[in-house]
Order: sequence, then structure tokens, then C-alpha cells
Amino acid sequence: MNILLLGSGGREHAMAYRIAASERCSHLYIAPGNAGTSQCGKNVNLNPEDFPAVEKFVLENDIQMVVVGPEAPLVAGITDYFANHPLLRNVMVIGPSRQGAQLEGSKDYAKEFMARYKIPTATYRTFTTETVHEGLVFLRTLKAPYVLKADGLAAGKGVLILNTLAEAESALVDMLQNLRFGEASRKVVVEQYLDGIELSVFVLSDGHHYVILPTAKDYKRIGDGDTGPNTGGMGSVSPVHFADKAFMQKVDERIVAPTIKGLLHEKISYKGFLFVGLMAVRNEADGTMDPYVIEYNVRMGDPETESVFPRIKSDMVDLFEHTWNGTLNKNMLEVDPRAAVCVMGVSEGYPGAYAKGKVITGIDDVDGSIVFHAGTALNEKGAVVTNGGRVICVTSMADTVPSAILRSYQELEKIQWEGRYFRRDIGQDLLKMMV
Ligand code: AMP
Ligand code: GLY
Repeated sequence: MNILLLGSGGREHAMAYRIAASERCSHLYIAPGNAGTSQCGKNVNLNPEDFPAVEKFVLENDIQMVVVGPEAPLVAGITDYFANHPLLRNVMVIGPSRQGAQLEGSKDYAKEFMARYKIPTATYRTFTTETVHEGLVFLRTLKAPYVLKADGLAAGKGVLILNTLAEAESALVDMLQNLRFGEASRKVVVEQYLDGIELSVFVLSDGHHYVILPTAKDYKRIGDGDTGPNTGGMGSVSPVHFADKAFMQKVDERIVAPTIKGLLHEKISYKGFLFVGLMAVRNEADGTMDPYVIEYNVRMGDPETESVFPRIKSDMVDLFEHTWNGTLNKNMLEVDPRAAVCVMGVSEGYPGAYAKGKVITGIDDVDGSIVFHAGTALNEKGAVVTNGGRVICVTSMADTVPSAILRSYQELEKIQWEGRYFRRDIGQDLLKMMV
């Protein structure tokens, strides 16, 4: 079948890599894609949020499946657009409805949803410009550090963690009254800080059934030792060793199953990925780890996909077709037991301002690892150049996490561009926990 994948990052390259590997895929198009995705299929110059343009392309190219990488088209309702269109309603769209996408599109909506289904998460309250004063009073009932979240989409930047009450108070006023994150911070969720270890759990759901994909850990800060500003993600490791069978059973029973049931109960169509950002918090009573939801996303993670997808051995197109048909079954997922580690190379200056157009060399020298492009393009001479903050990542698979880490660093060293930067400590926190 002909498949259109929407998006342009490392996540989409990793998805394209697995979709193109399926015998079921005749033609793969990636919109808009990057220099890496053009090795898996054909890039097309389309904006995923321009639905009429997507519609035209789908009809002209006999596309039978649309896989949505990023959240923006989902929150804007691309799935509903297809479902309500007489010529498009039979196209398999992998991604939830607009209503389902609210789990990511509104933090307040997600928190209320969790409260309705008793899904463990930090206690919270939501405030608006009219209730700033109550928000300030609520802050005083919490202990430091303080967590403030802009309700709407804020390109991953809408969460502030503040160490003192004074900072939290002024940030709350700034978010609500000065709209520090624009419209996204017209409402602000104030919640209790959870002390634990973060990990990402991914689910593919057909709305009734689901499969839990391999876990991963992401490294969000720019600097080694988790210092400096937040980024889109600087590397990932899959699997996360402490997410053992007992922990994953809690995740399934307390979080995933009630989430899917809740969506079904509310008649919200959800055929796509669900990414649950979790905090594993030690239970003082019995010493085990308990999962709490930090956030839902309605898509795969980036750069988690770059370590999770290479471990999925099942045919991705088959899985997607079952997702659409409502016939997913837990036994359909076959996972490579090896570990995968992805290290992201970024442009100097990222997550602040950075240059573009720097020529990238050495990609062809990489041996035995996978190179996923995140922000690259081809220049007029056909050379691969930097075109984003996150540029390129290397994923290596090995029997153990330490050897996968070693390989990814060895191979990433071969890829050069002016101003290249990467974290040196991807996975080191996990290794420390293992000993
Ligand atoms: P989010 O955009 O919701 O993923 O939040 C960004 C980051 O803030 C998360 O990845 C966590 O590291 C942190 N965070 C969010 N909520 C909490 C919380 N309640 N307690 C501790 N850390 C949090
Ligand atoms: N890596 C985190 C995210 O994709 O949101």
C-alpha cells in the first residue's frame, strides 16, 4: 500500500525506517521529511497542518494510510478531518481524534481525565487570570520545589520547576497575567513535585485493545548531569532496566488499562500512539517503585522513537493496519531483546539560537549503527547540511546498555559539522543504578 508519514524529525526518520522495511509498503512519502527520510521514501513538500493540501496529495497519490508523527496536526483534528470526508474516510489514519489529542493539548483536560479514572498523578489545581490570587494561596500549601504548567501546547517549554516560593509566585503571575507562554498559559496547572526517576512508556492502541511498546528513558537537559535548559531530548535508552515485570504490571493495571477504558467510556476514538511520561516514585512502605503520570502525549517521543522503533521486530504496517481495524492483540508485538541507545548531536547554541547550513561529513563512515537525521537538509550541491537544533543521532544496539552506549559514542564521533555538540553522559545514570 501507499503510505504518507507526516513530520520531519528524528522520530519520523526512525518511523520511516521501520515502515519502509515492511513488504506491505509499496510507496512511502514523508511530508515534509528531512535528508535522512529521503533514503526511506520520497519527501514531499507539504505542511502537515494544511489539511486541504494533505487531502489533495492523498487523493492524487492513492494513499491508503497516513501515519501522524507530531502532535500539532492531531490536536488540530486531522483524524476527524479524514473521518468526516466522504473520499477520505477509508484512509487509515494512525493518530487519535481531536478529542483524544486533548490528553496532550490541554494539561488541565489530562489532569481531569486522570482524576475521573483514578489514575495516579501529582495532586494539582488549575488557575486562570481570574483566580491568580487563589493560585498564590494554593502555592503556599505546597512544599518546594513548585511545578507550574502552561495548560496548552508550548513546544515542550511550558513547564517550570521553581525552587523557592517567591520564584513560583512571580512565575505564576507572569504566566497568567503576562501570558508568558502566550495563549497556552491562559490556564496554569500547579502541581505537587514528584521525586523519583522519569521514564517513558509507549502504547499503540486501536481504541479497545493495545500493545505496550518497549520502555525508554530520555535525557531532556542540554548539559551533562542533567544541567542547563530543557531541550527536545538529547538521547535515549531502551529498555529501562528498573521497569521490570512487576513495575510494568502496575503501569498496565493502574495507568494504561484505565486510560484506554476511560477513552472508550467517553466514546473518544483513539487509534494511535499514546506516550505516558511517568515518574517512578519509591513506595516508602514496601520499597517498590510506583508509577505516577507526569504527562500524556498522543504521539511517539523524540528521541525515544530512535531507540524504541529499532527494537520492534513486528511488521510496523501490519501493526498499524490492526490499529485501524480494531484487531490489535498483545501477542502481535515482537521485540528485539537487545538494548538500544541513541545519542543526539545538536547545533552549538541549541536550545537557544543556532546556525543552519553547516556541512555534515562522515555519515557514510558509520559502521554497524543506525544514523537517524533529525534536523538536516540537502543544500543546492546535494550535500547534507544542518537544518535544526537537533541535527543527527546515532542508535546502536547491543546485548548490554554499556556496550550500546560505547558504540553510539564511537560512531557519532565520526560524524562532524561545525559547532557539533552532544551530551557525554547518556545512560550513565542508569548504569549507576544497575550496580
Ligand atoms: P512535561 O512537559 O509535562 O513533560 O514536563 C517537563 C518536565 O518537567 C518533565 O519531563 C519532568 O522532568 C518535569 N516534571 C513535570 N511535572 C513534574 C512533577 N509533578 N514532579 C516532578 N517533575 C515534574
Ligand atoms: N522526548 C520527549 C518528547 O518527545 O516529548
